[in-house]
Amino acid sequence: MPVSTTVPVTPDEYKPGATIAVDIDDEDVTVTVVRACMPFTVSQVLIVRTSEPTPTSIDPTPTSILPPNKLVALKIYDPRFTGRRGEKKDGLPVCYPWSAENEAKAASRRQWWQKRDLDSTDAVDGEEYYWREQEDSQLSEVKTYEHLESLQGAGVPRLLGYGYLRCGPSPRRSVVPPVVFLEYIPDATRIYDIDPQLLTPSLVRSLIETVSAFEGLDVSHGDLNAGNVLLSPAKRPTRAVVADFGYAAWREAYEEDADWRKELARRDDVGSLRRLLRNTLGMDDDELSHFASAPDS
Ligand SMILES: Nc1ncnc2c1ncn2[C@@H]1O[C@H](COP(=O)(O)OP(=O)(O)O)[C@@H](O)[C@H]1O
Ligand SMILES: [Mg+2]
Repeated sequence: MPVSTTVPVTPDEYKPGATIAVDIDDEDVTVTVVRACMPFTVSQVLIVRTSEPTPTSIDPTPTSILPPNKLVALKIYDPRFTGRRGEKKDGLPVCYPWSAENEAKAASRRQWWQKRDLDSTDAVDGEEYYWREQEDSQLSEVKTYEHLESLQGAGVPRLLGYGYLRCGPSPRRSVVPPVVFLEYIPDATRIYDIDPQLLTPSLVRSLIETVSAFEGLDVSHGDLNAGNVLLSPAKRPTRAVVADFGYAAWREAYEEDADWRKELARRDDVGSLRRLLRNTLGMDDDELSHFASAPDS
């Protein structure tokens, strides 16, 4: 019987104080969990502290590509803990609990499965579905952040690095979950949690400018929901950030102009953002345009 295993509580592996080992560019990096951003939705976002530099006598310069002793956001794409277990999506009753056995079976059939549709009634196919989603999300993030270099550190977080989780021997794993490290947005709150009074015209303008810039950088976000727009700091936000490029699309070099234009129109990032802002502020389109061009009071 399928059991819902949505992840409402922080798994022991991600509790404050736990250490997480990651491989970035063949470098071993260990970070310490400060807190998990619960509940998990697709991936698992943890706020972690990077380690102190450990210069060796042979090479006195710290080698880590992460800044030492700093808070950063670690986004892990581990199908074991995805919050998507328990949801129904695209007709797939994706509520199979994780098991090492199903993960191993899915991995062993992967070659054969390359081009096969998944069977919604099969637990091993369910495992494959989660894994594909996690892997695809990380690839989208890495690719689109590269395109968005000019917005990093302002309208989108800075991408600090990416690599793979180093899993221990138990439980036995058959996949190697990918990860990204992002700039930590301090005291970030999602736009749906904020008092609309705190959403100033300049914050609204900066969001519209950020999202309007995606098209020229050959990116479409595609998932501008209220959980993916962050404001910082929560009490009196001065920075608005678009997060979560897990469903983003980027233009491939070979892609025809007409096809890419169609994709942009279908995803309509600016339209989605304006809808989100209108709902948050309780305004119609004209009122929003007027508000966005006003000075902050
Ligand atoms: N760079 C960041 N700094 C601080 N908090 C973050 C950062 N990125 C994500 N978060 C927190 O984690 C939550 C989930 O992040 P998101 O990228 O949307 O992951 P998912 O793909 O799982 O939806 C966000 O709503 C936010 O609360
Ligand atoms: Mg999200």
